[in-house]
Amino acid sequence: MSRFISTAICALFVCSICSTEASAAGNATKGKAVYDANCTACHATGIGGSPKLGDKVAWAPRIKQGEAVLTTHAIKGFKTPGSTGMAMMPKAGKPTLSDADIANATAYIVKSSK
Ligand code: HEC
Repeated sequence: MSRFISTAICALFVCSICSTEASAAGNATKGKAVYDANCTACHATGIGGSPKLGDKVAWAPRIKQGEAVLTTHAIKGFKTPGSTGMAMMPKAGKPTLSDADIANATAYIVKSSK
């Protein structure tokens, strides 16, 4: 069991290195097109409690988590505990988007919202 845990922690560590790199490489310029095509329906309007693009107050506590966490949430889906609003669906419900597309779109959102 503890072997499993240390393997898991190790995998997590390695992954966190990859995802830090991935999000460091999250390219806001490339992300704009991904955002425009896939994220505006919610993040431009604020529908269902979606944090709006450019809303610094809504994004500040989220951005504090770090871009890698935000990217993971956007890839895997996320709902603020206790929230009665909508959830962020995994990859915005578009499984054809690559992890890099999501990282780029997230980088664009973060850049535009702080
Ligand atoms: C169908 C509506 C919808 C679409 C489309 C959508 N989102 Fe979201 N997103 C949400 C909602 C709602 C939340 C807030 C969830 C919560 O905090 O409970 C959210 C939250 C997020 C967060 C913050 C996660 C966190 O940890 O606070 C990120 C990052 C994000 N979305 C990225 C994206 C990206 C990138 C796209 C486009 C590829 C996208 N979203 C498309 C509804 C949407």
